[in-house]
This record gives sequence, C-alpha cells and structure tokens, in this order.
Amino acid sequence: MGEAKKLYIKTYGCQMNVYDSERMAEALGSSGYVSTDSPDDADMILLNTCHIREKAAEKVYSELGRFKGLKAARPDLKIGVAGCVAQAEGAEIMRRQPMVDLVVGPQSYHRLPEMEAKAGQGEKALDTDFPLEDKFEVLKQRPKASRGPTAFLTVQEGCDKFCAFCVVPYTRGAEVSRPAARVLDEARDLVERGVREITLLGQNVNAYHGPGPDGDDWSLARLIWALDKIDGLERIRFTTSHPNDMSDDLIAAHGECEKLMPYLHLPVQSGSDRILKRMNRSHTAESYIRLIERIRAARPDILISGDFIVGFPEETDQDFEDTMDLIRAVNYGQAFSFKYSTRPGTPAAERAQVDAAVADERLQRLQALITEQQRAIQDAMVGREVGVLFEKPGRMSGQMVGKSDYLHAVHVTDSRARAGEIHRVRILESGPNSLAGEVA
Ligand code: SAH
Ligand code: SF4
Ligand code: F3S
Repeated sequence: MGEAKKLYIKTYGCQMNVYDSERMAEALGSSGYVSTDSPDDADMILLNTCHIREKAAEKVYSELGRFKGLKAARPDLKIGVAGCVAQAEGAEIMRRQPMVDLVVGPQSYHRLPEMEAKAGQGEKALDTDFPLEDKFEVLKQRPKASRGPTAFLTVQEGCDKFCAFCVVPYTRGAEVSRPAARVLDEARDLVERGVREITLLGQNVNAYHGPGPDGDDWSLARLIWALDKIDGLERIRFTTSHPNDMSDDLIAAHGECEKLMPYLHLPVQSGSDRILKRMNRSHTAESYIRLIERIRAARPDILISGDFIVGFPEETDQDFEDTMDLIRAVNYGQAFSFKYSTRPGTPAAERAQVDAAVADERLQRLQALITEQQRAIQDAMVGREVGVLFEKPGRMSGQMVGKSDYLHAVHVTDSRARAGEIHRVRILESGPNSLAGEVA
C-alpha cells in the first residue's frame, strides 16, 4: 500500500451538497484518498458548488483563483469542480480556469474514481450526465467508521416544479425518489455508527413517493413511520418541503410521531398572489396560511421556518407589503431571505427587473421583521424544558452544545451531557445566537 493521498473538499450550497460531499469522499476513498481539512497539503481539491444565486456561482471562480499558487508549485495536484455550477457550466469552467482537471455534475459523481484516474494521466475529465444507474447503489460500499450524532440522508433528488426563478430543475434534473428499503438500510447503518438524528433530504422532500418493500408507493409519512421503528434512532427531521406537497398523512405524523421533531421548513417565497403566480408557485398566500393553521392544529408548538425572495421581477411596493403581512400572519421562528438573483435560462430572467436599491431596502425591512419574530420565539423558550441532542464541546471549558427539538442551539455546563445523548434541559437564558440551559 502506498501512502494515502489527501482529499480536500469544500462544500457550498444546500444540505444535499453536504450529503453529496460525504459520498464523494467515500467514492474517492476507493482510489486511496483520505480527507484533509486544509487545501495546502492536498493531492486533490474538490469544490462542491452551488448555482442558486449569481454570487454563489461566481464565488467558485474566485476560490479557484486562490489555488493557482498551489497548482503552480505542485502540478500533480488535481483540481475538480463538482455540484450545481459544474452541471450548469460544464466545459466552460475549464475554459475560464484551465487549471481545472475535472468537472463532475451532481448525478454522476459515483464515476469520480475513473475520472480521477483519467486526470492522473494528464487528461481533462468531464461528466455532467444524468446516468440511469443509481449513484447511491454504486456507492453502497461505505466504510464503517463511527460518526457524529446527526446525519443527512438524501431520499429524493431533483425537482419538477420549475419555479420561474430557480435553477434546481436544470442542475439536478427530474424528481426521483429512492426506494424505501434502501433508505431504511442506510438509516440502520447510520444508527449502528452512532447517529441519533437523521434529516431526510430532497429538493422537494415531501413529494417523496418511493417504491416500498410491499410494492406500494410510499409517501414521506410512511417512510417516517418506518424509520420511527428503528431502535436507537431518536429524532427525525426533513427538508425542504413545498407547500403543495404537505399531504394529510404528513401533517398527521407531525402530531402523532414522537420522533418527528416540531420544526418545519416550508418556503413560501412571497405573500403576494400576483407574484406567486408569476413565480409559478401554484399556491396562494391564503392557501399557505390555511396550511400553516392545519399543521399547527396537529402540532401546536411546531416552529415554522421559511424562505423569501424580495425584488422578484415586477414586484411592487404593494406586493412587498403583502409579503410583510403574510410574515405577520405566520410568525416565523426561522427564515432565510434573499434578494432576487437573475439566473441564466430561467423564465424570470427575461422580465423587468426591480431596482437594486429598492430590493435592498425591502430585504432589510423583511429581515428586521423576521429577526424580531425569531427573537421573540427564542426568548419564549426561557423557563421551558426542551429535549437537547448534544453534539460537541462548546467554546467555554466544560461546556457542551447541541440542538433543541426546535433546532435552537443550546449550551449547558454539565458533565452529564455527553455527545450523542439527549437530555431534558431547562432553558435559563436566550442569547443572540443560542440558548443557555441546565440539565433538568
Ligand atoms: N426546493 C426548495 C428550495 C431550493 S433553493 C423550495 O422549493 O423551497 C433555496 C432557496 O433559494 C429558495 O427557497 C429561494 O428562496 C432561494 N432562491 C432560489 N432561486 C433564487 C434566485 N434566483 N434568487 C434568489 N433566491 C433564490
Ligand atoms: Fe427551485 Fe421551486 Fe423546485 Fe424549490 S420547488 S427547487 S424553488 S424549482
Ligand atoms: Fe445550490 Fe444546487 Fe443546492 S444550486 S442550493 S447546491 S441544489
């Protein structure tokens, strides 16, 4: 056995990219690579990229620029671009940055070992196919290393919704659900390796409809109930959901399944029906608010999280005020908000753009309102007892940090709280980014 080669992966974008980066590291493990935290001594640098907004996509090129010196000093160093920018721009990346050796899309990265070998012979390797073989099956021979208490598990890929602003249906391809038995196998394997909380992932995870072991089409709720039976798995989450796929059985599961955590990320994007229609979202502000009411009827304490886009083409002051009204009606515990970014090839890119300064001002006002709601919900945790899954030591000596059922960061100073354990914690204080508590 020769000396192990070192792989440095930098991950941008969503949780699905985090999951994919782990799979890519495993795939390259079969080519003799072990992971390293620094690009300086790496034999291969892989950027797992995001194309969702212009800024995210452009970051790839500035990041590549930073590796120029390393590549000049060590011509053997392989540089690869993976993920959604790889899919969207393909060979263009090598034209703009000739030092890039390989470009691999999100649906073909199980072919990385062959691509790496090709790059080793001094050739460029490009693969942005949507192959028919199941990449997760190809990658199944995973090492049995123990791991931290939380894990992501992709159950659904791609998107068929084609929101007018979004690149995901193009970069990830059509919606595909993994067979339930394979998801359950992977979950059991994760639990054997120390995982206590699994977050099921998909660009439209609640549209999951994988074939079940009984031959039926399983919904996400059925999959969750099957996961609920795995001993040692204590918590289940899922993200990201679309309002139109919030089925009755899933809403009911939020009320009935104890392992399913009281947190739901349900992006709405806008509170104006005129804009929602132009966005091709196929729900209204009213239908979204009614849906939240039904979910809260099933699970009154659930924390609602959302995504918003401000400054979508043709958004007027009134449209924006409608979004602010929706936020007031829902009361968010968490939210991500973005200024609209023009994406090549999407329908909205052709339309009249909102003035950048106007969009900036709207974004600031929206974020101020969200922050206020978020703070109030977090502050209201003081005095309550919540479950916390501890993950790692905190910054202060003796401190342990973890996440509450509602996904708030919580820290305690108590030797009884160990990584991988869930304790009831009484919340004592609410800080800017976290809660402080004591083991109850
Ligand atoms: N599948 C998820 C979200 C995927 S992208 C869903 O449907 O909710 C994550 C978020 O990025 C989106 O919810 C949206 O708020 C934001 N986003 C996507 N495209 C964007 C664009 N062109 N400009 C600004 N924000 C965008
Ligand atoms: Fe993009 Fe819309 Fe699909 Fe979400 S539902 S990934 S925003 S196209
Ligand atoms: Fe970005 Fe691709 Fe995820 S565009 S948000 S990395 S699906």
